[in-house]
Amino acid sequence: MNLSAMELSSEQLQAVLISAKSICVLTGAGVSQESGVPTFRGPGGLWRQYRPEDLAAPEAFERNPLLVWEWYAWRRELIQRAQPNAAHLGLVKIEETVTGRDGQFTLLTQNVDGLHERAGSRNVIRLHGSIWQLRCASCAEEREDYSVPLAPFPPRCSCASLMRPGVVWFGEPLPEDSWQKAADAAAACQVFLVIGTSALVYPAASLPLLGKRNGARVVEINPDSTSVSEIADIAVQSKAAEAFSALARFDRQKERA
Ligand code: APR
Ligand code: ZN
Repeated sequence: MNLSAMELSSEQLQAVLISAKSICVLTGAGVSQESGVPTFRGPGGLWRQYRPEDLAAPEAFERNPLLVWEWYAWRRELIQRAQPNAAHLGLVKIEETVTGRDGQFTLLTQNVDGLHERAGSRNVIRLHGSIWQLRCASCAEEREDYSVPLAPFPPRCSCASLMRPGVVWFGEPLPEDSWQKAADAAAACQVFLVIGTSALVYPAASLPLLGKRNGARVVEINPDSTSVSEIADIAVQSKAAEAFSALARFDRQKERA
């Protein structure tokens, strides 16, 4: 048999996915890159001259809330226009297949864009919050707000303080409940699929290793090498939507054969 690299990875990927009773997935910014949402690191990752660490931090918001809000407003606009891609949609299909045979499927995402939910994924755990959630910087007030552009800008709470994005910033803890569910799913899964994350930001980056230590087969989809590549049983070196499109083509070919 003579298979191209893409066919080979699709065949391996399908073989692993078909047999698994429990699948845990961790996604990062790379899964939305082909939808037109820029990643944080790597080419196109910088906004103006700032690194994410200079903007996604409580100190940055205290120093210059308008600058931080301009960055989020720019991202909200891009995300609102974006559509889920073949990777988001492929994960919905995998969830349907796995839950259809009484298996467990958990999608852990570091993304705040909501594209997994828009695609139709059901069991999504958002580790870093949502860009559509606003939270008062002073009181407990929170609200969902999908308006682009936001008015007034920057948004204010009824208590007159500034609202901040309802996301997890550097130095802040992850929501306790989400983190516990994520760690449980990672430790219990047979297959851990890691898609489009540089695996540099903790604690999310520790989840694939937790899965591996508990016996999961780790599969990575990322055009670049990361620390996950070192522990991966299969590393598919391609873009996420490309890999899922190839997998779908492979599925159709097999059905016809
Ligand atoms: N398909 C798959 N992977 C891709 C694609 C693609 N089309 N394009 C880029 N990538 C990969 C890159 O090789 C990189 O490894 O996606 C990864 C993106 O890494 P980051 O930009 O660091 O994104 P992420 O890992 O999600 O960042 C983690 O950092 O700033 C914080 O809170 C923010 O949740 C974010 C966290
Ligand atoms: Zn308030």
